[in-house]
Amino acid sequence: MKKTILDFNRMKDAGERIVFLTCYDYLTAKYQERAGVDMILVGDSLGMVLLGYDTTFPVTMDDMIRQSQAVRRGAPDTFLIGDMPYMSYQVSDEEAISNAGRFIKEALCDCIKLEGAGVDILSRIRAISGAGILTMGHIGLTPQFAGQLGGYKAQGRSADAAIKLVEQAKRIEEAGACSILVEGVPAIVGREITKRAEIPILGIGAGSYTHGQLLIYADMVGMYDNFTPKFVKKYADIGGELQKAFTAYSEEVRAGSFPVDAEHSYKISDAEAEKFMEILENQ
Ligand code: KIV
Repeated sequence: MKKTILDFNRMKDAGERIVFLTCYDYLTAKYQERAGVDMILVGDSLGMVLLGYDTTFPVTMDDMIRQSQAVRRGAPDTFLIGDMPYMSYQVSDEEAISNAGRFIKEALCDCIKLEGAGVDILSRIRAISGAGILTMGHIGLTPQFAGQLGGYKAQGRSADAAIKLVEQAKRIEEAGACSILVEGVPAIVGREITKRAEIPILGIGAGSYTHGQLLIYADMVGMYDNFTPKFVKKYADIGGELQKAFTAYSEEVRAGSFPVDAEHSYKISDAEAEKFMEILENQ
């Protein structure tokens, strides 16, 4: 049965860890749901993982909606979060509400996520959750703000910066977020944010104390090899397996050794085959 925000709050209170993965396509979603993943994020990281961009900046709302729909078809019974892409919410509360609404209406998502912690972001969180849409905040290493952060670097590594993150988390909670994703911070910072939170705190590269853990699925199964962050643990080498399979197939096709056996060909009865050849020969 699909978990709701009430289940996640209960899990937080009971100390049960929330399992969270990104996903961008129908097939992978099916495997994640079968594995019992609690929450799926259709992250704007699809720009890099699925579309081959160097950053998430070019990702559009239409990209996000199409892939969220595919994930929903693969995982009909999993709590699904749509990630607001660059410039889908920065301009105004009105635009943010209408783009957040597309995730719910067109892709049947349960929640949306948006990055950042400035005054305008708090206003967007108030507006979107005020419109009745579950809203997950995202602080720490927020890729859409990489320019202002001076690159894709771990955050909260000085006492002042760490305090700022603890304060941001509280403000986001007060603005009405249903949960917060904390990315790329020292474990002690993840721990102190989590301790003070009344809502579930999910972490990616934020240590082991958060209420749940997120990884980008293509990193943890060894598919995305352009860059692997320090916090990623590899649970499989699917990239290596794909490479082996594609190479073996190429070799067999070139050598004429696939397909040869009866197992991989359609059959025709001897009588029909004989008749077929006879017709051809008499033409
Ligand atoms: O887009 C995404 O997958 C994300 C994670 C990196 C946190 O936002």
